[in-house]
Amino acid sequence: MNQRTPIIAGNWKMNNTAKEGVALVNAIKPLVADAKCEVVVCVPAIDIPAVSEALAGSNIALGAQNVHFAEKGAYTGEISAAMLKEYGVKYVIIGHSERRQYFGETDETVNKRTLAALAAGLVPIVCIGETLEERESGKTEEVLDRQITEGLKGIDDISRIVIAYEPVWAIGTGRTATCEQANETIGYIRKKCAEVFCPKCAEKVRIQYGGSMNAGNCKQLMAMPEIDGGLIGGASLKAADFAAIVGYDKGGMQGMKLPKELL
Ligand code: PGA
Repeated sequence: MNQRTPIIAGNWKMNNTAKEGVALVNAIKPLVADAKCEVVVCVPAIDIPAVSEALAGSNIALGAQNVHFAEKGAYTGEISAAMLKEYGVKYVIIGHSERRQYFGETDETVNKRTLAALAAGLVPIVCIGETLEERESGKTEEVLDRQITEGLKGIDDISRIVIAYEPVWAIGTGRTATCEQANETIGYIRKKCAEVFCPKCAEKVRIQYGGSMNAGNCKQLMAMPEIDGGLIGGASLKAADFAAIVGYDKGGMQGMKLPKELL
């Protein structure tokens, strides 16, 4: 049995206005109050003040979806770590494949953001993963190696971050990696981290699986020894679905006593 505390994080992406976000976390709060794992919601930047207030005193931590690497300055449209910290943000997603694909994020910028987040006391959730084409042409390990060595370069203690393994072909597609595939690839990531950083830190670093994880498949995925949590997109937008994933140890949806309006 490893000592890693499982972590289930919702990634709302560009969904929910502040008002909608507050309603969603208010519905989630009582459903996850007895969670055994760490629970996080990563919300759009503009939702942060309101959601932060709504989460006060709960066991749900607040996360952002990106952070700039400079402390401050002429970076129109960007948000600094200090701005996030002021509202009690603890986690920040960095290098999500959508940012790599649509917004020019590279291993180099991922690295800069990750180091800046760590320096400011935020916990980066760094996303890595291969595309379908890369997997089919046998390049999965090569891509992960590059994302780890370049993207995580210069981190002194790798166990201070969370890694999210998200095969790009499984994100929002309903096509989940099999439990064995996810476990094997995450095992590979841990092995690589041991090689590049240190074996002890690699044993401690939490590695999530992300990509169409839902109330139906969470129990099997979370039962795999290498998988320490989930980064949940679509299924984090409904209180009952997200709470069922948080309660994966109770068997997902079946194990839940849900208020009528959430069924
Ligand atoms: P999904 O998204 O759960 O909707 O596949 C996961 C993610 O992109 O983090």
